[in-house]
Amino acid sequence: MIQLIGLFVCLIGLESPAHSLDDNEAQLLRGQELYQSNCFMCHGTSGRGDGPAARAVSGSPPRNFVQEDFKYGSSPEDIFQTITKGVTGTVMPSWKHLSEEDRKALSHYVLNFRKGQDRSAASSPQGSAGK
Ligand code: HEC
Repeated sequence: MIQLIGLFVCLIGLESPAHSLDDNEAQLLRGQELYQSNCFMCHGTSGRGDGPAARAVSGSPPRNFVQEDFKYGSSPEDIFQTITKGVTGTVMPSWKHLSEEDRKALSHYVLNFRKGQDRSAASSPQGSAGK
């Protein structure tokens, strides 16, 4: 029985690697935790590229995840790659020291800023005003 379950898990894994990027609540929460301690200073707590360090950045400014296009692809897999490698020639660092799970969680959290745009615009009209 245990072997069967093992086989099943393997098959799911092999069949579609993208499956492990499913956005479930737990992953988003983990992503949020990581983001709000590692990324907010540049990308801003609400993902608008307006973190406290953003103004000091020279060269390319941190991406506004809510409004701007993603230069390096906007699928969870693309974002995962960007987070893993960083962006050479900008202050965007590589985060490959974080576990794969953590980088996946971050990919989803980053994408979620955009998905949540309409909802948050409707429910909190003040948005990130004043920043
Ligand atoms: C020191 C500032 C800084 C920190 C910290 C930082 N970033 Fe960035 N990030 C940038 C800059 C600047 C860019 C824009 C690079 C460009 O325009 O080529 C960027 C770009 C990106 C992109 C690329 C979007 C696109 O256009 O394809 C992603 C994804 C991203 N950051 C995610 C993250 C995540 C997740 C974290 C935290 C784990 C993080 N960043 C932390 C500065 C930062």
